[in-house]
Amino acid sequence: MCGIVGAVAQRDVAEILIEGLKRLEYRGYDSAGVAVIHQGELTRTRRVGKVQELADALQTAPLAGGTGIAHTRWATHGEPSERNAHPHQSGSDIAVVHNGIIENHAKLREMLKGLGYQFNSDTDTEVICHLVDHELKSAPGLLAAVQATVKQLEGAYGTVVIDRRDPERLVVARSGSPLVIGFGLGENFVASDQLALLPVTRTFAFLEEGDVAEVTRREVHIYDLDGNPVVREKKESEITHDAGDKGEYRHYMLKEIYEQPMALARTLEGRIAQQRVLDSAFGDNAAELLKDIKHVQIIACGTSYHAGMAARYWLEDWAGVSCNVEIASEFRYRKSHLFPNSLLVTISQSGETADTLAAMRLAKEMGYKATLTICNAPGSSLVRESDMAYMMKAGAEIGVASTKAFTVQLAGLLMLTAALGRYNSMSVEMQAAIAQSLQSMPAKVEQALGLDDAIAELAEDFADKSHALFLGRGDQYPIAMEGALKLKEISYIHAEAYASGELKHGPLALIDADMPVIVVAPNNELLEKLKSNVEEVRARGGLMYVFADVDAEFASDDTMKVIPVPHCDEFMAPLIYTIPLQLLSYHVALIKGTDVDQPRNLAKSVTVE
Ligand code: F6R
Repeated sequence: MCGIVGAVAQRDVAEILIEGLKRLEYRGYDSAGVAVIHQGELTRTRRVGKVQELADALQTAPLAGGTGIAHTRWATHGEPSERNAHPHQSGSDIAVVHNGIIENHAKLREMLKGLGYQFNSDTDTEVICHLVDHELKSAPGLLAAVQATVKQLEGAYGTVVIDRRDPERLVVARSGSPLVIGFGLGENFVASDQLALLPVTRTFAFLEEGDVAEVTRREVHIYDLDGNPVVREKKESEITHDAGDKGEYRHYMLKEIYEQPMALARTLEGRIAQQRVLDSAFGDNAAELLKDIKHVQIIACGTSYHAGMAARYWLEDWAGVSCNVEIASEFRYRKSHLFPNSLLVTISQSGETADTLAAMRLAKEMGYKATLTICNAPGSSLVRESDMAYMMKAGAEIGVASTKAFTVQLAGLLMLTAALGRYNSMSVEMQAAIAQSLQSMPAKVEQALGLDDAIAELAEDFADKSHALFLGRGDQYPIAMEGALKLKEISYIHAEAYASGELKHGPLALIDADMPVIVVAPNNELLEKLKSNVEEVRARGGLMYVFADVDAEFASDDTMKVIPVPHCDEFMAPLIYTIPLQLLSYHVALIKGTDVDQPRNLAKSVTVE
C-alpha cells in the first residue's frame, strides 16, 4: 500500500528511485513522484497514473542529484491527482514521502495554519512536512526535528524526509508502516520493501516500531522510540527468486498461477521426512510450543482469510483441535473468549497487513499460549513478532490478486493440521497420507493447469455478465469464496459465494439465465448433497458451470457445462479446485480488458487500517 524509495549516493539516483518504484508499483499505482537535491536545490516531478508516466516525464526532463526520495501512491486522503501525489514539500526546503495514515492530521493542520503554513494538497502527509519545518526552527538538525515531529503524530507512518539545506542526509521514521534500510558501498538506501532495492543491494536492516534513523552515504544511525541509539541486525536478503520481471508471461498474475507447482515444491522442501510433517517447518522452537495446543484461533484478511477458513475444516475434522477463524479487522475490535492452550495463527502473504498485525499484537496481550504466522515475507513484522513462523517460500507475489500465495498457504495449513494432529487425535496412517498428498501436490497442480485452454474458451460466456454465483460445500465453500473474490477483484463482475446448502434460504431468488452459477464439486462425501443443490438451480432455469472430478458423473447438457478436474485425494482437493477458478477469473478479465495485475482501487499489502 503505497511504496517508498530513498537514496543517498555520489551518483545521480533518479534512475534507481524509478526502478525501485516500478518494483513497488503493485502496492499502489494512482500517482507517483520523485524529489532530488542537486546543487543546493530541491526539484520535484510528480505525475498522475502509473510509474511509467513519471519515468516518461523524467526521460524528457531528467533530474540530477545524489539524494532523493520517491513514492508510488494508493490514495487515502485526497483524490489521485498531481497536487496530492508525494513527495510533499514545505516551501522549497523540506520534502517528505509517507505511507500510512496520520489520524490526527485535521487537528495538526489547523495548528499549522495558525502558525502561517499554507497547505497545497488534501493529504494527511502534508502536515509532516510543515511540522518538520516548524520543528527545525528550534531543533539542532533534521534528525531532532523529525524525532520531535513523530512524537506529535497519531496513526501509522513510514516516512522519509530530506532537507535542501542538509543535502546528504535522509531521515526515516517507522511506526505501523514498514521500512528497510539497504546498505551499499559508499551509498545507502531506504524503502518500504526490500524488493525495491534488490538491484542495488542485498544487505538490509529492518527498522522496528518507533525507530527513527539518519542515513548518509557512509553511515546509518538508528534510534528507538525514546531516542536511544540502537543496532538493528544487518541481514542478507533471503529472496532467491527476484520476481522483478514477467518473463514470457503477459501478466504477473498468469506467471504466478503457473509458478504454483514450483512454489509448492519449494514450500515442501525439507519439511517432510519419514512420512510425516516435521515440527521444524514452523521454527526451531515449534515442537515445544505446539505439543499442548488444543485450540486454534486463525486471523487473516481477504484471500488469506479464505485459506484459514478451509483449514478450520481440516483442524477440526482431522487434527482433533477446535478452531475459530475470523477476519482480522473484526477480531481486533471485539472482545473474544480465550480458551486454554490456544494457538493464534495469522496468515499473511505480505506479513504487514495492518489489521492482522494489530490482531496478533492484541492476542499476545490476551495471553495466547503461542503465536504462529504463515507468511511469505521474510523479515516482515508478522514474522519478527510471532513466536513461530512458517515461511511460505512462494517467491514474491507481484500481481495484486493473490494466487500462488493462497495455494501455498493451503499447503502450509495442511502441514499444520498434520503437525497438531500428531499431538492430538490423528492416526499415524492419516499423517502419512497427508504427507504423501502434500508431496504429490506440485505434479497434480501441473495437471490442473492443463485446463487453461478449456477455461479460456469458457470465459467467453462470462464477458457480458454482471453477476456470478459460486457454490461449494465443506472445505470447498472457502474455495468458492476465493473464486468469487478473484473474479470480482480483477474482472469487476459482482460475484458472491454460498455454501450450497444455504441456497434455498434466500439466494435461490437470484437465479435466472443471466446469473452464471459456478460449482466446485470434487468427489467427496458431500457430492450427493451438492448434486441436489445443483438440481435446485437447474429447476429455476440457472446456467451452471460445474468443476467436477472426472468420476463425479456430471454430464454437460443445455443447462450445465461440466469441466472435468483431475482426480485428487481429499487432502489436496481444495488446492486443486482453486486452480481452474484462478484461470477463469484471469481469462474473464483478459476478455474484459481490465488491468489484470493492478486492478482499480486496490493495492497489495494493506498497511493501513
Ligand atoms: C486478494 C488479496 C487480498 C489479500 C489481503 C490480505 O487477492 O490479495 O485479499 O489476501 O489483503 O493480505 P495479506 O495476505 O498480505 O495479509
